[in-house]
Amino acid sequence: MTQLKPDLKIGEGHFRECYTVKDEPALCIKMLKKNLTFLQRLHLNLLRRKMNEDEYNTYHQLPASLKPYFNPIVSVSRNFVVTSRPMDYDGSFSLSVTDYGKITNIYFWKEVEKVVALFEKHNLWFLDAFQLGSNVFVQRMSEDHWKPIIIDYKRHGWKSYPLQLNLLWDSQKKKKFYRKYHRFVKSFKG
Ligand SMILES: Nc1ncnc2c1ncn2[C@@H]1O[C@H](COP(=O)(O)OP(=O)(O)OP(=O)(O)O)[C@@H](O)[C@H]1O
Ligand SMILES: [Mg+2]
Repeated sequence: MTQLKPDLKIGEGHFRECYTVKDEPALCIKMLKKNLTFLQRLHLNLLRRKMNEDEYNTYHQLPASLKPYFNPIVSVSRNFVVTSRPMDYDGSFSLSVTDYGKITNIYFWKEVEKVVALFEKHNLWFLDAFQLGSNVFVQRMSEDHWKPIIIDYKRHGWKSYPLQLNLLWDSQKKKKFYRKYHRFVKSFKG
């Protein structure tokens, strides 16, 4: 990231803040927050020291069929990731599902079902993909064809939820995934 300069803050989650990159509109930088709580630091230091690297590796190890639905990470260090900033067909920046509120586009929901079928096929349970609507963006490929782009996929096991030892089992991850997924559909399907 030697030449990449973080510019405007465009979002934040529990662990990271997201910035535009000066003179690189197609990229953004997600950096660990400076004001993490004591418990968050403990969590990161004990179990998620490589949180950003893990997310980078996750992207690069995804089955080819799933890659188009995940926002690419282009480079990484312990404290940040450099990722794409999804854009719509008309050149505007894509928005999150939360920004849309309700989504009525039928292709979008067909694509979401396709993603979930692929998670089933590969036994991959991304526990934060359908966490409310802030980790999924809506990329408008054309006026009619909208598709989901998952921009945050760092949680897929008990290390992300250290008090939930049941997540050592795939069956329990799957159960948690579907609980969140059903809530996602209920909240945002218009
Ligand atoms: N590629 C992106 N393009 C545009 N905005 C983004 C992108 N990545 C992240 N953001 C914005 O920054 C916010 C925080 O990013 P992210 O969800 O990765 O952080 P986090 O701290 O890991 O989240 P969580 O609270 O889910 O653990 C997102 O909710 C979104 O608003
Ligand atoms: Mg997030």
